[in-house]
Amino acid sequence: MIAIGSDHAGISLKQEIMKFLKKIDVEYKDFGTYNDESVDYPIYGKKVADVVQKGECEKGIIICGTGIGISIAANKVKGIRAALCHDVFSAKMTRLHNDANVLALGSRVIGSGLALEIVNAFICTEFSDEERHLNRIKMLEG
Ligand code: RB5
Repeated sequence: MIAIGSDHAGISLKQEIMKFLKKIDVEYKDFGTYNDESVDYPIYGKKVADVVQKGECEKGIIICGTGIGISIAANKVKGIRAALCHDVFSAKMTRLHNDANVLALGSRVIGSGLALEIVNAFICTEFSDEERHLNRIKMLEG
């Protein structure tokens, strides 16, 4: 199950992503926002991060205008490794090396075509499980 959330700036890209997830048969749960009224991105970054932290959802996807604010919010939650990716290579590498559990996107930065490729790479790439990467991830927890 993928947790997905956005602020008002990310809502139309979020809708495209949900359509894509449905098409490829990946289950998701939408944690809002649900319309284009101005809202505060930290709320939605935290909502998604919380359910991923609890293990209720395996991964998360969060979207705001730049992807920056909402990724900062998600990364404040212990155990969350949110990666802001605007290219496919980074999305693959952050799964392989960082075992990122949340993908952040900026709807005002990239178009939906590229965003869907990034989502696909993020979902389809497994963590490498190599010892050096496991050790570095442990170090992130302090
Ligand atoms: C909203 O206008 C915008 O500030 C927000 O979506 C995001 O880009 C913040 O990082």
